[in-house]
Amino acid sequence: MSQPISFQYPERIKLAQTPTPLEKMERLSSKFGVEIYFKRDDYTGTELSGNKVRKLEFILQHALKLGADTVITCGGAQSNHCRATAFAAKRLGLKSVLLLRTPNPDQPPAPEANILLDYLADATIIWITPEQYQQRDQYFAWQAEKLVAAGACPYIIPEGGSTALGSWGYVAAVEELVGDVASLGGASVPTTVISAIGSGGTSAGLIMGNKLHAAGLRIVGVNVCDDREYFQKVIGNIMNDFQVKYLEQPPVTTADIEILDGYVGKGYALSQPQELEAIRDLARLEGVVLDPVYTGKAYYAMISELEKNPEGFGSRIVFLHTGGLFGLFSIADQMAKFL
Ligand SMILES: Cc1ncc(COP(=O)(O)O)c(C=O)c1O
Repeated sequence: MSQPISFQYPERIKLAQTPTPLEKMERLSSKFGVEIYFKRDDYTGTELSGNKVRKLEFILQHALKLGADTVITCGGAQSNHCRATAFAAKRLGLKSVLLLRTPNPDQPPAPEANILLDYLADATIIWITPEQYQQRDQYFAWQAEKLVAAGACPYIIPEGGSTALGSWGYVAAVEELVGDVASLGGASVPTTVISAIGSGGTSAGLIMGNKLHAAGLRIVGVNVCDDREYFQKVIGNIMNDFQVKYLEQPPVTTADIEILDGYVGKGYALSQPQELEAIRDLARLEGVVLDPVYTGKAYYAMISELEKNPEGFGSRIVFLHTGGLFGLFSIADQMAKFL
């Protein structure tokens, strides 16, 4: 067993309702013959629910320290990260500007689900095309220049808050997980943590946290877009940056990044019937709701793999429920067909 590595957390501001509970899914566990727990990071808040708020605790503390009065970030039209950022900004008396991706900015999507909440939090939304989104750094810079010219002090938060600083949120979450798993007893039971990968920061934090706390967990990420190779690079870059900024020696390598590829399905934010059926079935089996874009896909991946090989993740699994519930309301018509 490896030894914990000494480190110091950067400063953070309390935004998330933590620690979140670890709950056993009794019927799901019986179905597959392995222990399945959900780490309820969908309980980190209401407006601020999900994984993003753990990252924002570190990122927004930094923004405040630099005197920012406006945060700028980006994401897909129904971005959970953007919604959480817009509300977290309001909690701290800041303004927010969101660059949201949509095929035709002249006809933006209806104000529903996360978009409705963005407007409710008085976020300034700038709609950009997927091609423009590829150049988002340029768009960030333009928005920041405009704000500075108007006398504001902007702070840019990259996509998903997936930076070295943001990933501290999941280093801290691993500390919670170590306590959660210890409370289950059977310290020697190998435990696999499964979560969705969207922009990589959560996985980077989990992997770094696993090493820093010598937690001995197996960390598996399910990519909901792009592919394994892409995310090995993205997560690897976040971890490199983390190591350079915060640690004396690199404790992890890209070999520590385990990605379960093959479950993107129809593509990012596009659902297949079997994924929606899995969301419905879990709601009815355990009274837990998943989102269609991230947790629904990661969960579908997990049960599909368990169906093929019930022992594939070992005898104890922690599924990280990273939230995103509001996204379900943007596909209500599609979901209703399976009820
Ligand atoms: C609900 C939800 N789960 C998981 C993720 C993935 O986290 P990350 O972007 O840190 O990979 C996201 C965001 O992308 C999300 O909104």
